[in-house]
Amino acid sequence: MKEWDKFSEIKSAKGVWLTDSKGNKMLDAVASMWCNVWGHSNPELVKSITNQSKKLQHSSLFNLTNEPAERLAKNLVKISPGMHRVFYSDNGSSAMEIAIKVALQYWKNIGEKKKIQIATVENGYHGDTFGAMSVGYVPQFFGKFKKQLFSTIQFPVPNKYRLPKKFTLSDYQNQCLENIEKRFSKSNTIAAFVMESGAQVAGGVIIYPKEFQKKISKLCKKYNVLFVLDEIATGFGRLGSMLQYEEQKSIPDIVAYGKMLTGGYLTMAATLTNKKIYDSFLGEFNDWQHLFHGHTYTGNPIAAAVANENLKMYQKYSLIKRIQRTSRVFEKFYQEISEIDIVGDIRHRGMLMGIELVTNKKKKTPIHPKKSINKIFFEEGKKQGIYLRTLGNIVMLVPPLAISEKELDLLLIRTIKTIKSARSQVV
Ligand SMILES: Cc1ncc(COP(=O)(O)O)c(C=O)c1O
Repeated sequence: MKEWDKFSEIKSAKGVWLTDSKGNKMLDAVASMWCNVWGHSNPELVKSITNQSKKLQHSSLFNLTNEPAERLAKNLVKISPGMHRVFYSDNGSSAMEIAIKVALQYWKNIGEKKKIQIATVENGYHGDTFGAMSVGYVPQFFGKFKKQLFSTIQFPVPNKYRLPKKFTLSDYQNQCLENIEKRFSKSNTIAAFVMESGAQVAGGVIIYPKEFQKKISKLCKKYNVLFVLDEIATGFGRLGSMLQYEEQKSIPDIVAYGKMLTGGYLTMAATLTNKKIYDSFLGEFNDWQHLFHGHTYTGNPIAAAVANENLKMYQKYSLIKRIQRTSRVFEKFYQEISEIDIVGDIRHRGMLMGIELVTNKKKKTPIHPKKSINKIFFEEGKKQGIYLRTLGNIVMLVPPLAISEKELDLLLIRTIKTIKSARSQVV
């Protein structure tokens, strides 16, 4: 906060462009925290909000229901193979808290008292609340709360760029999977395995090698461990498919959606479960099998209305096909980016690119300037007309999903200029 004496005030936004109070335009390279789908001020989405806000702004899902929330639940189940019911919340962290609570309570509901531990992968991220921090532990973010977090069993993830010495990617992946199997086979106390679907995003854009997620899902089935996926950042087209779990052939027991669910316009998240899990929560009142969890704005009708419109537009405009086409623009720039002397690695899938910056390409030493890297890149990006946010030493490109090829081209050209102009401040 000391470094940031004054923030740019965003007054309005249209398409991929944000406009600040001084009239400066910035291309929204982080999709307003990875959630914007169609660009800003999209008339169809705005209309759905306006129409719904005239009829019913909010009414509780406690003892009641509302049409947009009901319709959205049906729509979500329809697009989510294996899923049966939906539990709403208003942000991704809460959706993950719910996923964890549902997984733990499931075993209690069916009388399995020993299954109380959560397994996960190192370096994952699932949000900033205590449960989410416990399962998605990024040491730099959460080290100060370590003592208060509940313990989890963590397994390493293969990161192609930073493999342990003498390992190939496939050898290391096999070793990671063997570790998981060894642990699963030794203990019957593990309730669930929780991971981001397709890639770790906040943990540094670590895209899992082929088969990694699928094989973990198989191990979960084999050893009777619930498989819980977080599609909050990676689903809904971010990595080039509607759902990463379908792409990775790894159907979960529980899955969480957020961010892009409402097109990035209003705050809403959802936790879905399969029928087996849902049914375990059904019982007589005095059995106390229901889930004691609910937020004030759960199932908010305006958020649900815009989410329904958003899903309709995915079909209407064949968004996933469009992303697959547009995202090829990233590939055109691989060579030019990798030739910059402080670029160590480029990791890209769909509409997500992480550019890892190092001081020494051979030794892969992460850049570590005295000032915040994020601040340096934000200021330099602003001069180039782009809104950039880095994560540690990684420049993140996470644009609105429907960005045009021309706009993406411009974004990459300006990102390259930004990295080159920031260079002298970071090495
Ligand atoms: C994979 C993943 N899960 C959960 C969250 C938390 O979502 P929220 O910020 O809406 O609480 C995030 C946020 O970046 C995320 O990337």
